[in-house]
Amino acid sequence: MDYLQIEGIDSLNGTIKISGAKNASLPLIAMTIIAKNCVNIKNLPQVADITTLLKLLSNLGAKCETDSDKTTIDTSPLHETKATYDIVKTMRASILVLGPILARFGHCEVSLPGGCAIGQRPIDLHLKALEQMGAKIDIKAGYVEAIAPDGLKGCEIIFDKITVTGTANIVMAAAIAKGKTTLVNAAREPEVVQLCEVLSRSGVKIDGIGSAVLTIYGTDGELVDIKDFSIIPDRIEAGTYLCAGAITNSEITLESVEPNHLGAVLSKLEEMGSSFTITKDTITIHPTKDIKPVKIITQEYPAFPTDMQAQFLALATQADGVSIIEERLFENRFMHVSELQRMGADISLNGHTATVNGRSKLSGTDVMATDLRASSALVLAALVSEGDTNIHRIYHLDRGYDSLDKKLKGVGVKIKRVSE
Ligand code: EPZ
Repeated sequence: MDYLQIEGIDSLNGTIKISGAKNASLPLIAMTIIAKNCVNIKNLPQVADITTLLKLLSNLGAKCETDSDKTTIDTSPLHETKATYDIVKTMRASILVLGPILARFGHCEVSLPGGCAIGQRPIDLHLKALEQMGAKIDIKAGYVEAIAPDGLKGCEIIFDKITVTGTANIVMAAAIAKGKTTLVNAAREPEVVQLCEVLSRSGVKIDGIGSAVLTIYGTDGELVDIKDFSIIPDRIEAGTYLCAGAITNSEITLESVEPNHLGAVLSKLEEMGSSFTITKDTITIHPTKDIKPVKIITQEYPAFPTDMQAQFLALATQADGVSIIEERLFENRFMHVSELQRMGADISLNGHTATVNGRSKLSGTDVMATDLRASSALVLAALVSEGDTNIHRIYHLDRGYDSLDKKLKGVGVKIKRVSE
């Protein structure tokens, strides 16, 4: 297995180009299952999770081809409707094929994704909503077995909790169901908005896009002629590199970014002392060497994103004072804390709340990545540590960050990927 070796640095300098959003790409790839045509997708990020989902679609019989500037997916040859454990266990977002396959074929088997490092990650809301649409669902030997012999029927669904992939799953199922589906308490993340916009531009009538109440008028079994599209920029990748600028007190510029998706992140960085020059698709951070402490509560979009919690916790170790970070979405999303403590950070945990006493002097050492965003927090800490840091199990990082080592090298970081 590879590890990343990072030498602590005095400052970064230059520009980083942001890639397409992993969490927009996954539902949009699954959406090709309800397409009647070959779908052309631009700006897919080169990350492991995308490769995994494309492999899953190919295993089901779809044809996926990637050339220099786009990926073409043809699901007309799709004949399998069982997503097996070997793939689903590596990426729980595979559950996103459940809605589209069930809606198109009337039956589907998907391995239960199981939990992951950050939490139990249930899919009960996905399943309950599909049952309300007429599906019969059994859980057998670790698989979800779903049938809808009379097809799925639109209805009113109220999600008990806001679920991003749950919303995406039902939007895709409802798009070709019979009649109207109203989804109340829907997720409003930009990634869900793009899925709705692509479907709407392709002829599916959807009201309330971007709001918490979506109304989808199904095509009654007719597959959709999906228009070409390009994946929106990854707001979490962008937020991670903004934190890299802030933690090293470096003025760097992000290109191909969507500033409107980063409101809560920019506002917290401003609270901590940074300012910004923002254009339509670039952000330049003007950081401060006197980082101020911060209070953060993670919540659904447009509030502060849980996917940025670990990165801000690393940044808070360099603030002058006490920061309080509360994780409200996942039950176990503080696994970066013990590794940061080993690097010298002064953090105490009490249930879902971390108290960070800064500023701590960090020292490079061997650390272990545990999940995608925790690994990016370790990268940020390594940037300001004395000496080298070796980050092991970086397959976690490779799931969601496109060419992270190359991008950091491009702004002056001494970083290399070493084979163990
Ligand atoms: C999506 O996960 C993202 N993944 C996650 O990003 C992100 O952290 C999360 O949304 C929250 O923003 C993708 O989009 C592929 P949820 P998802 O369903 O959809 C509970 C990353 O780092 N819940 O919105 O799985 C759940 O336990 C990843 O890129 C149920 O109880 O998250 C959690 O507490 C990590 N029952 C809350 O809802 C359900 O059926 C939000 O989960 C579904 C969810």
